[in-house]
Formats: sequence, C-alpha cells, structure tokens
Amino acid sequence: LYKITMSKTTPVPDNPYDFQFKGCCFPKRVVTPEYLESLKDFYIRDTDVFLVTYPKSGTSWVQQILCLLYYEGHRTGTESIKTGERMPWIEFNFRNIDFDSRSSPRLFTSHLPYHLVPQDLKNKKAKVIYVIRNPKDVMNSYYHFEDILEIEVQKSTNFEKFMEKFLAGNVSPCTWFDHVRGWYTHSDDLNILFVKYEDMIMDLHSAVIQISTFLGKELDDGLLDTVVRCATFKHMKTDSRANKDDVPGILLKGKGDFMRKGVIGDWKNIMTVAQSEKFDEIYQEKMMDLPVNLTWDMQ
Ligand code: A3P
Repeated sequence: LYKITMSKTTPVPDNPYDFQFKGCCFPKRVVTPEYLESLKDFYIRDTDVFLVTYPKSGTSWVQQILCLLYYEGHRTGTESIKTGERMPWIEFNFRNIDFDSRSSPRLFTSHLPYHLVPQDLKNKKAKVIYVIRNPKDVMNSYYHFEDILEIEVQKSTNFEKFMEKFLAGNVSPCTWFDHVRGWYTHSDDLNILFVKYEDMIMDLHSAVIQISTFLGKELDDGLLDTVVRCATFKHMKTDSRANKDDVPGILLKGKGDFMRKGVIGDWKNIMTVAQSEKFDEIYQEKMMDLPVNLTWDMQ
C-alpha cells in the first residue's frame, strides 16, 4: 500500500508546505514525487470513471452526483460513506486505499493536469468528466477555502496577494490556465465530457441527464428527481457526506463552511475593477488561441 514518506523535493519559493513536480505544485503532507511519477503507469480499467477538475470548480458537487448515480445507499441515505471515500483522489491517497482491490466500476477524483495523468487515460481507457468554472469565481472560492483550512498551507494575507499567487501558479496544482488548456487541447485523446459549473447552476436537471447519458446509465424519472434533489446546494450544505468534516484536521472549526455560497459571480464582491481588468488581460493573453469557446460573465 501507498505510504507517505518524505523524500528530497524541489521547494516552492516562499512556501515551505509544497514541492514542485514537473512544473506543478503539490502539498508535501499528502503526496510525494515518487508517487506522482508512479501514476504514469497506474493500471486503468475500461470501466473506471475519473472526475477531473481544477480545485474549486465544483468537484464535490459532481462527486455527489456520481455517488448518487452509482450507489443506492447514497440515494436512500442508508449508508454514510463519504464522497471522498467513494471517489478517492488518485494523487492524494491519504486513506491508503488499495485501488487494485476495488470492485468495478471504480470512481476516482483528480486535480491532476493533463500531462501528469496515467498514460492509459490518454489511450481512451476509462471515462473522464472534466468540470470547468469561471476562473474569477474559482479564484474567489480558492481564496476563501485557503482561509478555512486547518492544514498547513502558506496563507495569503489578503485577496490581492492570493491573486498574485493564483496567477503565478503558486497554488496547487498549477495555474488555472495551464490546467484548462491541457485538458481541452488533448480532448481528442480522451473519452471525455466537459461540464460547466454555470450550466449546472442554470439547469441541474439537464446536467444530470447529460452526465448519466455519458456514463451509459439509464435514469427513470424517480431516480432523476432524487439525484437532482440530493445534489442541490441546499441539500448538500446539510449533507455530512458532502462536507469535509470527515477528514480530521482539514478545516478550521467555526471558521466557515466548505459549502460556502455556491453561486455564479460572487467574484464581483471581492475583486476591484483594477484586479478584474488585470485578470481579463491575462485571460485574453493566455486563452485567446484556445480552440473552444469558453464564455463567462467576466464584467
Ligand atoms: P463557493 O466557494 O463559490 O461557494 P470544489 O468542490 O471543487 O472544491 O468546489 C467548491 C465550490 O463548489 C464552492 O464554491 C461550493 O460552494 C460549490 N458547490 C459545491 N456544491 C455545490 C452545489 N450543489 N451547488 C452549487 N455550488 C456548489
């Protein structure tokens, strides 16, 4: 089984808690470079399902949907297994799960950029769902998340500082721009469905149908209604399986909820006009030539 042992790592400047690996930034506490290296050859089954996201893009939301689709006990509330256990992070195996002995279909979660995922994913083995969200909302959500973390992270003293860090890619795993670019420009290698957080907000019902169709799962009306009802923000806010209270020491008690606001456009409450314009400039520069039309309310 995988064991975390400290090894020689390349430090991230001004950040004692993370290390660099192939241009990305990872928390020392839960992963090593050797383990990341080994993932290249990770044995993928055709039946595996990977949920991939840049942090704060709606990971827990789609984890919840997938758990509801795959596990009856999750729907009926007769089991209390957390989504993080049902759909463990492939790169952060802090629960020491023996992935090989898991029965199919195995569900995984990952924040890995395209260039670090198991080779067989790139050979169209397994299904991948990639969730994407307005990067301004992602940055805002990430900033608040950092604030409520109990685990050791290099906290930013204010939003301006966090924005610098976010744009420079000194957050795990890399810049939002590189993450999105990697997954979008290699979509032909993958069996992948792209899902937009904002589309899920606008029409959760249709998003659940889209996801279940991609996974080849038939949904009758009753099942569809249950999944949609249990995946609403209101429901998830009080669903202990969807919150991170299972991982000891991850969130500061009483500082704020993991399920924070769950809305579109909350960035407008924190970004100044100057910060927003600077972000737009960088966005233009980095994403202009991407061969997909990713539009958000950025003004
Ligand atoms: P906010 O901080 O903007 O509220 P992740 O799971 O990738 O870390 O993303 C967390 C973000 O997704 C948080 O955003 C959280 O509130 C939001 N989220 C989680 N479940 C949601 C739901 N059912 N509906 C809307 N947003 C949800």
